[in-house]
Amino acid sequence: MSFSEHILAWYHQHKRALPWRETRNPYVIWLSEIILQQTRVEQGMPYFFKFVEELPNVTKFAAAEEATILRLWQGLGYYSRARNMHKASKYVMENHAGSFPVAYEELLKLPGVGEYTAAAISSFSNDEPRAVLDGNVFRVLARYFGIGEPINSSAGKKIFAGLAQELLDTDHPATYNQAIMDFGALQCKPKNPNCAECVLRLDCVALNTSRVAELPVKNKGKKSR
Ligand code: ADE
Repeated sequence: MSFSEHILAWYHQHKRALPWRETRNPYVIWLSEIILQQTRVEQGMPYFFKFVEELPNVTKFAAAEEATILRLWQGLGYYSRARNMHKASKYVMENHAGSFPVAYEELLKLPGVGEYTAAAISSFSNDEPRAVLDGNVFRVLARYFGIGEPINSSAGKKIFAGLAQELLDTDHPATYNQAIMDFGALQCKPKNPNCAECVLRLDCVALNTSRVAELPVKNKGKKSR
């Protein structure tokens, strides 16, 4: 089995049942992804339900007072996320007539939506073949392929982005993207991963060269060098 086949097979056995995986609605997926940007799944879940219930579509979101959105957001921190969401919702009303975009290039134009979030929304809602690259994916790729290039250097970003896109199962972009993120979160964990019972152990370069604890490499302090 290839890397991607192993990841998918693992996912079918171990996937988490998460509410935002039950929908293809790009607005609902956008809500979940912005909430989860700097927030753990368990902490974000009640906020996700509150937002979906009180502001069930982008029209309602855009029409809400900023104070309402900030009240719903209270406790999550990084309030610029909430303000950017309000701006993004108004942008969708003005430029997409209230129909939330699903195309990667369109999503990138929304305030608060970067490459990761655009890839997540376009693949989860519409199976656009865009590989997600978050901390989980960096870790899985750095370890399996034994890549010591810093994930936050410009050379590193290029290498990882190219590799992630090559590995993407273009027949199942949504499932594959969810799968590799869950694999990183649950199996290829930052600390004490259970390598002895890992489906990728035979070909994992980090495991076979005793570098699991050292990878991925991240430059401290300075960004994008
Ligand atoms: N973290 C960010 N996006 C996520 C998702 N779609 N599923 C699980 N964890 C996530």
